[in-house]
Amino acid sequence: MSNKVDKILTGIKPTGHPHIGNYAGMIKPTLDLIQNNACGKNYIFIANYHALNSTDTAVNIKEYTFEIAACFLAFGLDIKTTNFYRQSDVPEVFELSTILASATPKGLMNRAHAYKAAVDANMLKLNTDRDDGINMGLFTYPILMAADILLFNATIVPVGKDQIQHVEFARDIAGYFNRKYETDFFTLPTSSVQKSVETVIGLDGRKMSKSYDNTLSLFGDPKKNRKLINKIITDSKAPEELKDPDSSVIFQIYQSMAGAHEVELFRSRFETGGLGYGEAKQILADKFEETFHKPAQYYQEFMSDKGELESIMQEASRSVREEASDRIIQLRSIVGT
Ligand code: TRP
Repeated sequence: MSNKVDKILTGIKPTGHPHIGNYAGMIKPTLDLIQNNACGKNYIFIANYHALNSTDTAVNIKEYTFEIAACFLAFGLDIKTTNFYRQSDVPEVFELSTILASATPKGLMNRAHAYKAAVDANMLKLNTDRDDGINMGLFTYPILMAADILLFNATIVPVGKDQIQHVEFARDIAGYFNRKYETDFFTLPTSSVQKSVETVIGLDGRKMSKSYDNTLSLFGDPKKNRKLINKIITDSKAPEELKDPDSSVIFQIYQSMAGAHEVELFRSRFETGGLGYGEAKQILADKFEETFHKPAQYYQEFMSDKGELESIMQEASRSVREEASDRIIQLRSIVGT
């Protein structure tokens, strides 16, 4: 990835308040990747149409969308150099999605993990249709995601492990289209999964997820977060005993915020003995506060004026929309519409 000019693109579904798992698993690695791709082009967008497939209310989806926008802005995302937009502000995505659907075999969608899991769950129930409760939005989710990616010919797509198949599908769909129309209009994208963040572990040792209520809210009450950190369950090793950093929730979360040198120090103190869990939790809580104290202030500022935030978002989507509309004009001439 080093010399060639990349187009990095990723999307976030607005399905909850931003928490440390989102930061470690997605926000931080994406901001780092983008920083290292100063010569290339970068796209970060809020996948609000993807969120329609979850069962949330309109009010929540709107609110979470603002929260994600405020969150990236609070972390200093430079919207002059990075394309930052809401999916709904670029309706060309939906036209492309329709075009791609006509080049996508249904069998490919049948093989999608999320759809298959829903069908498998139905099959275990008595007298239940295999597609019970499954909407077409869930079924065609990978096509919409392919449209997000292929509209801008993204080359690198940073995603969590559970999304790798979707990026592979986008590649497949690009290939089907290119062959059908004998063109090289779509570039084949590649996914990128950061090793250190394959799964973020939650406060209780399970996978971190808002549905387990085992997260730390990025911009919530600092006192509450300190309390939650203190309650992280550990084994009963004494301070001087040797500990395995890689199986420690405390270390995992610390790693997502601290610099390389600090992480090494923490690791070696755990490994050689001499760092007790009490002190480790305190180091973690201090780091958390140090990392999010300033961004939290910016975040509150952005969130306190939704009208202003709305116009920032609209303005930010403008140049990307021009690019999208150029691509659609070319595409229409390829498909004859
Ligand atoms: N499906 C992704 C998720 O659930 C979000 C997403 C939508 C996305 N479109 C995308 C990610 C395009 C990367 C590229 O996390």
